[in-house]
Amino acid sequence: MVAMADIKQHVREFYDQVGWLEVSEGVYQNARYEDLRPVSREYIHRCHLRVSRHIKPEGRYFLDAGSGPIQYPEYLEYSKGYNYRVCADISYVALQEARKRVGDHGLFVVADVANLPFAPETFEGVVSLHTIHHLPQEEHVQAYRELYRVLSPGCSASVVNGWGDALIPRLLSNPMRWTNRLLGVVRRLLGITPTEHPAKPVSMSDDNKPTSTFVRKDSADWLKEQLATLMPIEIVVWRGISVKHLRTFIHQGWGGCYVLRFLFWLEERFPHFFGEKGQYPLVVIRKMSYTDEFTERTHE
Ligand SMILES: C[S@@+](CC[C@H](N)C(=O)[O-])C[C@H]1O[C@@H](n2cnc3c(N)ncnc32)[C@H](O)[C@@H]1O
Repeated sequence: MVAMADIKQHVREFYDQVGWLEVSEGVYQNARYEDLRPVSREYIHRCHLRVSRHIKPEGRYFLDAGSGPIQYPEYLEYSKGYNYRVCADISYVALQEARKRVGDHGLFVVADVANLPFAPETFEGVVSLHTIHHLPQEEHVQAYRELYRVLSPGCSASVVNGWGDALIPRLLSNPMRWTNRLLGVVRRLLGITPTEHPAKPVSMSDDNKPTSTFVRKDSADWLKEQLATLMPIEIVVWRGISVKHLRTFIHQGWGGCYVLRFLFWLEERFPHFFGEKGQYPLVVIRKMSYTDEFTERTHE
């Protein structure tokens, strides 16, 4: 079995040496996991903005745990009402890059999300996006505990990571395979070379370095059970479908923009269903204020 320290070391080296290398201006290797096509832009932008709905708009310290380089402009919006955005990451390169975007508004700390070097109740706003899934599963709950510990009473955190085995991706897996096969045949017959990303990322980069690293995803049932007695959470939708689904089913010529507008509308109507059954949940952690806690106790 691979030791936990080895997993983290591998993840850190991957991001330092591959993930946060700029492949073109302002675009990192890691963006291969995002759909940057114009047809999906509006949907993706609106999903990014969902993160800030659950966080206090202003305060003194805002924590971004596993910040990366703050690779999308929407990320800067989350902390704009705060005095300081604390970017914490195990990758030094991530923080160097983050500094270029956040400037004096930022404080940059090399840290492990499962062992945060901050005092309890320091932050009025916390986000952790696509990071906990890089930890060995034994440490996922510890990471949630840490985010909860550093959160100020009366405040909330937004946490995003993909589910491992959710209903919607399972239902879409066969149609996705058939559609990709069909598209492949049509393209071959017409002699068209695909200009868009293939649905499946390749596994080695041009210079023979790995293009991905350790990921361990949870299921909604597992997470709810693990956190039930530790902290109040609510699971709502961040994005119902994955980048592979977008690249397969959403195309400009197929009315992709309108399909995504409809999907976004559906997700807004049924946020809990899409949160648990879709690809990417937004886990909202709420920490009660001392007065709420007191009132609740006196009513027990
Ligand atoms: C997929 S990237 C996401 C970055 C950013 N949150 C975003 O959404 O663009 C994962 C980030 O988590 C960081 N990371 C991985 N394991 C970590 C850990 N144990 N503690 C802190 N950061 C970690 C990586 O270095 C990387 O920058």
